[in-house]
Amino acid sequence: MTGQSSGSYKNSYKFSVAPMLDCTDRHFRVLMRQVSRKALLYTEMIVAQALHHSNNRKKLLDFDEIEHPIAIQIGGDDPILLAEATKLAETWGYDEINLNIGCPSSKVQSGNFGACLMANPSLVAKCVEAMVNASNLPVTVKHRIGIDNLDSDAFLKEFVDHVAAAGAKRFSIHARKALLKGLNPKQNRNIPPLLYEKVINLKKCRPSLIIELNGGLNTPNDCRKILEQVDGAMVGRAAYKDPLLWQTVDEIIYGEKAQNLNASKVLKGLIPYTEKHLSKGGRFWDIAKHCLQLVKNVPGAKQWRNEISLQGIRPEANLSVLEECIEKLEDAGL
Ligand SMILES: Cc1cc2nc3c(=O)[nH]c(=O)nc-3n(C[C@H](O)[C@H](O)[C@H](O)COP(=O)(O)O)c2cc1C
Repeated sequence: MTGQSSGSYKNSYKFSVAPMLDCTDRHFRVLMRQVSRKALLYTEMIVAQALHHSNNRKKLLDFDEIEHPIAIQIGGDDPILLAEATKLAETWGYDEINLNIGCPSSKVQSGNFGACLMANPSLVAKCVEAMVNASNLPVTVKHRIGIDNLDSDAFLKEFVDHVAAAGAKRFSIHARKALLKGLNPKQNRNIPPLLYEKVINLKKCRPSLIIELNGGLNTPNDCRKILEQVDGAMVGRAAYKDPLLWQTVDEIIYGEKAQNLNASKVLKGLIPYTEKHLSKGGRFWDIAKHCLQLVKNVPGAKQWRNEISLQGIRPEANLSVLEECIEKLEDAGL
């Protein structure tokens, strides 16, 4: 909980790994940190109310120093609870805090937060203002290009203007609208069409705002191209499905030296973290389950995945499973 100066991570938002429930937990983030030294990593959404009532905040908030730069994502609609969450995030050492105004799930809607709040820009602005006043952390907002019939360019501009005036430092925009009735969250990530031009147009109309585009970016090159028109590229599913694909972002997006990674090098990088996790009573599988996608599209990949699953899921699995996996991969030149 030592807290780094967020200023030292200027422009890290150029490429980020999106918040994804059940995916971007601290273990996956440590894996992604092997792949990119520079990317901004988002946590899964944490609900402000749950944080308020939790008697195990460490479990919800702890992360490893190696994860910096890291943004915590919070869901909620109560300025007081959001301010409290922001103070906690600052104490815990996060670099930024992000408010979720993009999630369309019925559970989230019944709590009156997530995407449905796009219909209430004044409340979002109040929430952001309370968060801004609660700490020195940059406050950012993740949202859609619209919801239901509130999907015009004018609506999007008005929403963003309102929230920017309240002090939001950056906007991560999923370039599809959300349909709040009739589609489940998965459908809402696939069915409404991606309309990049709406985000690009917003950036043109509001050049001083920092705008990240999210949705359907599948390769580092997709990100490089979109960065010619907006300030940040945020990637979700494609990062989880194929972490190694993103090893070129440090070079092509941040101008850093290439790392030339492969699966065994990434796993080797995870050894100290895995040791630490196991020594605190954590399970090997917590980490190993995220590693399955490191090996794909090569002969024997399926067998390797089966093996690490069978071995790694056992409660007594320990570091030797990881070491054996690395050895096998090295023998195969992977
Ligand atoms: C499994 C899963 C969980 C997600 N959880 C969150 C979340 O907690 N908060 C959030 O703002 N978005 C969440 N999303 C949405 C992503 O952040 C992202 O906006 C969406 O997947 C579109 O980007 P992509 O096409 O690059 O995947 C989730 C997406 C997936 C696939």
